[in-house]
Amino acid sequence: MKIAMAGKGGVGKTSLTAWLADRLARNGKDVWMVDADTALSLGQASGLSPEALPVPLIRRGDLIRERIHAGGFLDLNPDVGDLPESLAVDIPIAGPVAPDVTTGRKRLLVMGAVTNAGGGCACDANALLKALLAHVVMERDAWVLVDLEAGVEHLGRGTAAHVNGLVVVSEPSMRSLQTGAEVGRMARDLGVANQVLVLNRHENGVPPALDGLPDRRVSIPPLPGLMGRQMTDASVLGLPETAMVDKLMDGLLDMLARGQSAAS
Ligand SMILES: Nc1ncnc2c1ncn2[C@@H]1O[C@H](COP(=O)(O)OP(=O)(O)O)[C@@H](O)[C@H]1O
Ligand SMILES: [Mg+2]
Repeated sequence: MKIAMAGKGGVGKTSLTAWLADRLARNGKDVWMVDADTALSLGQASGLSPEALPVPLIRRGDLIRERIHAGGFLDLNPDVGDLPESLAVDIPIAGPVAPDVTTGRKRLLVMGAVTNAGGGCACDANALLKALLAHVVMERDAWVLVDLEAGVEHLGRGTAAHVNGLVVVSEPSMRSLQTGAEVGRMARDLGVANQVLVLNRHENGVPPALDGLPDRRVSIPPLPGLMGRQMTDASVLGLPETAMVDKLMDGLLDMLARGQSAAS
């Protein structure tokens, strides 16, 4: 399955991607994590040291020229089937593994955001991201998790068109829920009906009924174990709350899988 996380900045998209990936890999799944944000923090959130991060794909001018501008014109449907395998880095599994389970694999593909903020052309990067999402090798048990750029602008360029599940991440605040609702509406217009709202750092209260906000919902409480160490540690894995987070991730994955089979 291909799942994307979207929502306002700072709400927990990257943390959630790291938690889901680790949980899936510990359950024997082959996971491709795609960092499509400018902050490029998914590797570190997964415990990778900054030096171990690969060069983001959008800064690989050589590859972009080779694939997107092959023949001198902009190829909006480039052949990228080999890129995940050759560019991704393996990330060690962090959480505890049950004795009877053969672990899967966690790989990180650092794409970079599809804006032109860094000087690169947004259309090139966007074409690459869309092609990657459309073509990334899908083995039976493989999962693709995309950590999208904050906000909604990239959705207008179709970044979520090739996923079969969308996680709208929000804090329990009106502004972040409004962004979440906008994300939900835009993804719905792209044909992504399988959506779940993750209300992060949620303690109590019911979110308002905003058009576009997914009605299936998972709440994650504030995690003191994460707050207590995030000043000195960029990883969100290996927390004292891992068992509880795992249960929430299982519930979320189950909702996404059921939404996908209902849609197909
Ligand atoms: N449930 C939570 N409890 C405590 N801290 C959290 C929780 N979820 C995320 N964080 C922290 O909040 C910050 C922002 O999260 P992050 O995943 O980077 O958000 P985003 O990717 O949406 O910008 C990070 O420092 C992260 O460790
Ligand atoms: Mg992030």
